[in-house]
Amino acid sequence: MRLILLGPPGAGKGTQAKMLMEKYQIPQISTGDILRQAVKEKTPLGEEARVYMDRGALVPDQVIIGIIRERLQKPDCKRGYILDGFPRTVVQAEALRETLAGMDSSLDYVLSIEVMEEELIQRLSGRRTCKSCGEVYHIIYGPPKRDGVCDKCGGELYQRDDDKEETIKRRLRVYQAETSPLIDYYKGRGLLREIAGKGEIGEIFERICQVLEGG
Ligand code: AP5
Repeated sequence: MRLILLGPPGAGKGTQAKMLMEKYQIPQISTGDILRQAVKEKTPLGEEARVYMDRGALVPDQVIIGIIRERLQKPDCKRGYILDGFPRTVVQAEALRETLAGMDSSLDYVLSIEVMEEELIQRLSGRRTCKSCGEVYHIIYGPPKRDGVCDKCGGELYQRDDDKEETIKRRLRVYQAETSPLIDYYKGRGLLREIAGKGEIGEIFERICQVLEGG
């Protein structure tokens, strides 16, 4: 199964991608996670990306397209994958289409997760992530058992630099301007499925599975 999870910052793409990965045994490919890892390791990619990420802007298309082309060639993508946070512009979507055509492949579904802006801000400002294993929490909607400590591995929880209020607002504007046109792009290609993203995490997962299994 080859999927794209589309949606604004905080829609729950990463949360749902991890659950889909477990259920369908296919990898989650998150460009945000790949970039954050590069920033952490201070690689040349990380140094370049950090400047854009810190101010809530998109990393240049050509950088991201190169990362994805390479990633899709890996053996674990043979059975499918979940693209989380890519594509984010029409240029990226076109590059993906060409890459897949070159591999004699294509997408099955693009799931657009829809959530109101007010809720997105609440979700992002309360998000905490484990420094060691990447597990994601929310201080109100899904808190860890012990404040600041990961339930899974005991690692320290931190707030992402781009989850500060001003940067969140900028990311939401960037989404509207640059990424939301992909909704019509994929609608026009018959691939888009809309998922109501409000409610319990498990409930939203059920909606997604129904779409994937019901066609
Ligand atoms: P990226 O990491 O992709 O961030 P994003 O798209 O802004 O998405 P988020 O990770 O913030 O949100 P999410 O939808 O995954 O929500 P989550 O599940 O965590 O990108 C970061 C940056 O990298 C970009 O700004 C850009 O600079 C760069 N970048 C990445 N990809 C790029 C690309 N393709 N091109 C160019 N630049 C790129 O949930 C959020 C919170 O809500 C969590 O705390 C969670 O616990 C909680 N939550 C989830 N679901 C629910 C629910 N149903 N009810 C209540 N709480 C919930």
